[in-house]
Formats: sequence, C-alpha cells, structure tokens
Amino acid sequence: MKVLIAEDATDAAVKAADIMEKIIREEPGCTIGLATGSSPVGMYKELARRCKEDGLDFSKIHSVNLDEYVGLEGTHEQSYRYFMDTNLFDHINIDKANTFVVKATGDIEANLKEFNDILDNTDIRIQLLGVGPDGHLGFNEPGATLYDGAHEEELDDSTIEANKRFFDSKEDVPTRALTMGMGNIMRAQSLLMIIGGNKETAARKLLMEDKIDPMCPATFLRLHRDATVIIEKELAERIGY
Ligand code: GLP
Repeated sequence: MKVLIAEDATDAAVKAADIMEKIIREEPGCTIGLATGSSPVGMYKELARRCKEDGLDFSKIHSVNLDEYVGLEGTHEQSYRYFMDTNLFDHINIDKANTFVVKATGDIEANLKEFNDILDNTDIRIQLLGVGPDGHLGFNEPGATLYDGAHEEELDDSTIEANKRFFDSKEDVPTRALTMGMGNIMRAQSLLMIIGGNKETAARKLLMEDKIDPMCPATFLRLHRDATVIIEKELAERIGY
C-alpha cells in the first residue's frame, strides 16, 4: 500500500487528480470507479478545471459508482446520482450515457441484478474510495460477514449519524443502500483512497495496525496490490503515522 501525505485537503485533491489524470490520458477509454461524500469533492473540482483548461478528455471514459441510497430518485438532491451530476458530470465532457449509478428505487432486485451484471463485465481501472467513520467502504458496513458482489445493506447508526449533515434531519437519512461488494472493490486494478478530517479510528486501523479486520472494511486495502492512500498531514500526525 502506498501512502501519500497531503499538506491539506486542497493538496489531497491535487494529488488525487494527478493520479486520475495520468490514467485518463494513458487509457482514454477506460472505466473509472467513482465515490461520493465530501472527501472527493475537491478532486472532482480539480478534474473539471483540468478538463476545461488543460483539455483532459472524458469523452470516451465510462464510470461506475460505488453506491446509492435506497428510496431516493436520481433527482433527489441527496441522491448519489444527483451528487455525481452536480459535482462532476455536468462540468466535464463525459457522455452521461456512459455513467452508471445504480438506481435504488422501484424493483430493487432487478436493479441489483443490473448492477452485478455490469460489475461482472467491467474492468474497473481505478476505484476511488472515501471511508466512513466506522471504516465502511462504499456502504459495506462493518460486520462478521462482508459481501463479494453488489447487494443491499442496512446502514449502521453511526453512518446515518455521520451522513445526517446532508439532510434536514436524521429521520430523513435513508436507512438502506445498494452498494458494490468488497469483492467488486478489490477486483479494481487500482484503488485510491482519500482520508482526512475526523477519520482517526479508520485511519489508525488501516495504517497503524497489521490486521485485516471485517469490523473495519477499510483495512482490506492492505490486501490490494495497487492501493494508494492519500492522507491529510494533520490526521496522519494525530494517529502518529
Ligand atoms: C458515504 C459513502 C461512502 C463515503 C463516506 C464518507 O457513507 N457511501 O462511500 O466514503 O460517505 O464520506 P465523507 O467523505 O463525506 O466523509
């Protein structure tokens, strides 16, 4: 696992954008795995700037997202489809028909089948990851059992608590989500995690302990041959890295 220390969130965004840009320029028709949350927002802004000002070309790029809240239509402001459109896709020259965020309303079983079919037939060149305060990846919550393929998860209270900042109240946060499984994530050719802020517990388990712990799915990054973690300096110092 490669660890890059970033001066701050802006530097983390630039470092992450550099890694994504290199891949997009070398393999302009590849599929990139994308994530939501506050961690990748700066990187998305930087990629949009590079698209406009430096000609970074997304016209042949395909994308697939990690997850979506059950019950939110893509037009809902807190849905991950809406997040991706407004934070990235509307600002770059990607063909939206080539972007996939699983639909999590209507026939959930059919939607999961479509998600799994796509994942089984897609070679994800790089999967971007944030991490939940409880160590979740996508919405793979800690537990004795983790799942290989895309599936539905019941969200932990700590996840609902952490994500309520985006909603009017805690009661408005969906309690279920569809997510790529740990196997889907681990089969990506490379992984890129951005970690900062208040993620001490996950960061400590990932970087300071020699354990693969299903109670902290982020620790599975240690098993991947090509994983990069970009950590903000302040957090790195706080955990004694
Ligand atoms: C949500 C997403 C995760 C993301 C996490 C962290 O729970 N499902 O994929 O990693 O938020 O978000 P943030 O970057 O805002 O801390």
